[in-house]
Amino acid sequence: MNKSERWFERAQAVIPGGVSSPVRAFRSVGGKPPYVAKAKGSRITDVDGNEYVDLVGAWGPAILGHAHPDVVAEVANVAKNSFSFGAPCPPEVELAEAIVSRVNAVEKVRFTNSGTEAVMTALRIARAKSKRDVIVKFAGCYHGHADSMLVAAGSGVATLGLPDSPGVTKGAAKDTITLAYGDVKALEEVFAARGNEIAAVITEAIPANMGVVPPPPGFNKRISELCNQYGAVFIFDEVMTGFRVSADGWWGIEGTREDWAPDLFTYGKVIGGGMPLAAVAGNAEIMDLLAPAGPVYQAGTLSGNPVATTAGLVTLRNCTPDVYMHLDAMADQVFAIISDALTKHRVAHQSQRAGNLFSFFFTDKPVHTYDDAKTQDTAAFGRFFHAMLENGVWLPPSAYEAWFVSAAHTDDDLAIIARAADVAARAARQ
Ligand SMILES: Cc1ncc(COP(=O)(O)O)c(C=O)c1O
Repeated sequence: MNKSERWFERAQAVIPGGVSSPVRAFRSVGGKPPYVAKAKGSRITDVDGNEYVDLVGAWGPAILGHAHPDVVAEVANVAKNSFSFGAPCPPEVELAEAIVSRVNAVEKVRFTNSGTEAVMTALRIARAKSKRDVIVKFAGCYHGHADSMLVAAGSGVATLGLPDSPGVTKGAAKDTITLAYGDVKALEEVFAARGNEIAAVITEAIPANMGVVPPPPGFNKRISELCNQYGAVFIFDEVMTGFRVSADGWWGIEGTREDWAPDLFTYGKVIGGGMPLAAVAGNAEIMDLLAPAGPVYQAGTLSGNPVATTAGLVTLRNCTPDVYMHLDAMADQVFAIISDALTKHRVAHQSQRAGNLFSFFFTDKPVHTYDDAKTQDTAAFGRFFHAMLENGVWLPPSAYEAWFVSAAHTDDDLAIIARAADVAARAARQ
């Protein structure tokens, strides 16, 4: 038994399934997860001393690579003055200003500790503003693990093949309407039938929690138009895409304030630079519904703490135009390497990409919806995944997740990925 296996055995005795978040347990790909000792730049090292090229990036936050020296230095500096005050502090203001200055539809920001909380807050604001209850979401989109969002959710819920989660009350589920992603007609019909009950429509800016599904042209804008027409709030979940796919997220690529804009955004991942930090954001009028400016209650003991907000601030400061160019170039190359290897070894697959997010579905049909995503040969993905791992590449342990590159990935990493991909594609084919 190696050290990772021993840790996993100990973990299973004291942590449900041995993990703090389900996908990490490797259930859908089989085998046991390596335990991580450290990560630096584009590489992650397990407790047995094996080093891997990391294409998970902590599931998105490690946009600069792990332990970027500027972030580490500033975090160490502020940490000397305590981790958390439970009182206002300058870095939270500076981080909010940095977000506002990047996204011109955002005027105010409220920090939370996770994307789940940010979405919960956005839903509460939407219901308070509209004085309605019903939320429309799209199957396969993941918005965290709040009760009402666990209906037909992506990410770990998809990975584990769970229908919906026990423990979610019928009451919570009945106020969620789930539609197929990209189905404009169904959305128009549901608004026509129940428009006066719908508080909000929530969507991922790019669905990336059932694998990556590029939004059909005009889909996000059409949601915005329908929300405006019927007085519903449009919540644009950019927890995954925010400040990753461009300096101002996916909306910065697709929208302009004059053309269309969501009412609320949710952010996470990159804005905390790897610390627990997320946010809900929007124009001043809607954001001022939050207490103490308005009546909608939301709070957090650790929210906006100096360490997390400093990590986010220094991360955003380092996300320069050059970094975005590098991310796009790396995404191009990894995308091409994997696609070529799968094609060469005649593995049925779809290579899908939006911005610098991408993933590969092991199926011969293009994937537009969650139902399409579920046609995948997950066993083939499992073989591919393990061969990549054995050959030094760390992928998401699920066929339903996006892959992430960072500013720290280099040509050396690409060479390792290319060698591994050839072996892994052959393994997937068997
Ligand atoms: C689009 C999206 N929304 C919300 C969440 C939930 O964020 P957290 O895991 O920080 O609660 C995630 C997490 O992956 C996400 O990808």
